[in-house]
Amino acid sequence: MAEVIVVENEDAAGELVAGAIRELITARPEAVLGLATGSTPLPVYRAFARSLAARPLDVSRVRGFSLDEYVGLPDGHRESYRAVISRDVVAPLGLTPGRIRVPSGDPAGLPTAGADYEQAIVDAGGVDLQLLGIGRTGHLGFNEPGSSFASLTRVKTLTPQTRADNARFFDSPAEVPIHCITQGLGTIMRARHLVLLAFGHGKATAIAAAVEGPVTSSQPGSAIQLHPHVTVVVDEAAAGRLTNLDYFRYAWANKPAWQGI
Ligand code: GLP
Repeated sequence: MAEVIVVENEDAAGELVAGAIRELITARPEAVLGLATGSTPLPVYRAFARSLAARPLDVSRVRGFSLDEYVGLPDGHRESYRAVISRDVVAPLGLTPGRIRVPSGDPAGLPTAGADYEQAIVDAGGVDLQLLGIGRTGHLGFNEPGSSFASLTRVKTLTPQTRADNARFFDSPAEVPIHCITQGLGTIMRARHLVLLAFGHGKATAIAAAVEGPVTSSQPGSAIQLHPHVTVVVDEAAAGRLTNLDYFRYAWANKPAWQGI
């Protein structure tokens, strides 16, 4: 069973997870972070930036692999995940740009981009801590319902729901690409620690399906049930449909401090 931690708000989630990232990098300055985009992980990046400002830590050797990218956005498009990661993560945290990778959504390189990305993650020694958000369709990264639990980085077609959800970042819904390149569920499952965050009522159904629902590719988030080290950090609203909520609260309240998250 995944560990579920219910926090008061997004800031508290950010502090908790940033603390775990800080501990990881302190112990292992070459740590490999699995980075996620979307609005959900932003409180983590902000809290970690605050923590670094208050107590400097050498993050120059940290490596990072982002989950996914749109296919075919013009180079430098401000909503390409490459641009988002550089703006929201690399710059504020002072990471070394050459050590942070995002899958390439350049149409010309797509036939080999997935395999190249997989090899780069393997060469880096694998991901230590993977941040994850979850889409309303239950997707992790851009692994839409039906994605194989064994899938690796490859091109996928976004569902109309996901395109509509992400249209808020673009000038018009039509501008949202139809295709993406995303780490597979199999790629994500190789990370040594998964940290899935979710906030708000809109995520409650996807969280309940991921944590307590049947393990099925129709709910890509449910793949986390097959992983040995998962931490789910949610606010009350996103936790609202969990059946075992009392148990999760009880387990967290009684967790030995030395275990961390
Ligand atoms: C996108 C990303 C996912 C993210 C999801 C949820 O589709 N590819 O990685 O988890 O959106 O986004 P948000 O965190 O903004 O709700």
